[in-house]
Amino acid sequence: MYKNLGEMLRGAQALNYTVGAFNAHNLEMVPAMITAAKDAGAPIIIQTSVGTAEYVGMKNFVAICRSMADDLLVDVGLHLDHAKSFDAIKSAIDAGYSSVMFDGSALSLRENMERAQRVVDYAHARQVSVECEIGTIGGTEEGVTIAEGKYTDPAQALTFLENVDVDALAVGIGTHHGQFKSKTKLNWPLIEMLHARISTPMVIHGGTGVDEDDYHRLTNNGFRKFNVGTELLVNWTRVAKEMFGKTEVNSSLRNNILPCNTTVYNIVRHKSELFMNVENQSVVS
Ligand code: 13P
Repeated sequence: MYKNLGEMLRGAQALNYTVGAFNAHNLEMVPAMITAAKDAGAPIIIQTSVGTAEYVGMKNFVAICRSMADDLLVDVGLHLDHAKSFDAIKSAIDAGYSSVMFDGSALSLRENMERAQRVVDYAHARQVSVECEIGTIGGTEEGVTIAEGKYTDPAQALTFLENVDVDALAVGIGTHHGQFKSKTKLNWPLIEMLHARISTPMVIHGGTGVDEDDYHRLTNNGFRKFNVGTELLVNWTRVAKEMFGKTEVNSSLRNNILPCNTTVYNIVRHKSELFMNVENQSVVS
């Protein structure tokens, strides 16, 4: 079924798993991603930046996610990632996205809350879910670099959640966007403190840099949405370079692109299996 984030994360919370939210960088990747989740027995969130959404067309993303969710009988959500402008968010909601992120992390707490509330009012009236962010996630995304992340202050997170009825909260715990050459050192004391105080599902950003050995512990600490983008981008591009470098110019494009999509399939399938947290399901601490 095509679902919103709230519905998907309630299921994850009840059984203690996390939902993979994979950034699609073009339309070609999407069937491979959804098929991989289906084969892993997992739900999936396809997420797009505002730039990718505009490049492909928001309604095109909605159409493919809806039709594949129906045809394959798999739970699929479509989420707008890191949107800062109300206009972009409104366009995605009006086009049929099932979930949006309002990223007010660079604003004061007060302004973040005020602008988030406007998004929540518009989205919830249309059964669309909302993710917000407290603290900042550093690193590079879509070529834009925020060098330093800022850890989430638990008191600020609580104030935010008391005032704004969001479906998921992205928190700064030491991850970085775009980290594909090394692994992140997570701030476990902060993670455990946030888990003890926050019941709203939390979101991992910068998932490419997270060591797979840490996935289960993060899931057991209340992270219900797990974003992975750069690993797909880097590997799709790496295989594309190899393929385009060696095929004839009049060879079907399919011959170049299918191996890229297979690489994405393998990554999404492997991670989706880990995200189901099978050995710890229903042991919510
Ligand atoms: P990575 O690209 O570092 O995996 O992060 C994805 C993300 O958090 C998207 O918001």
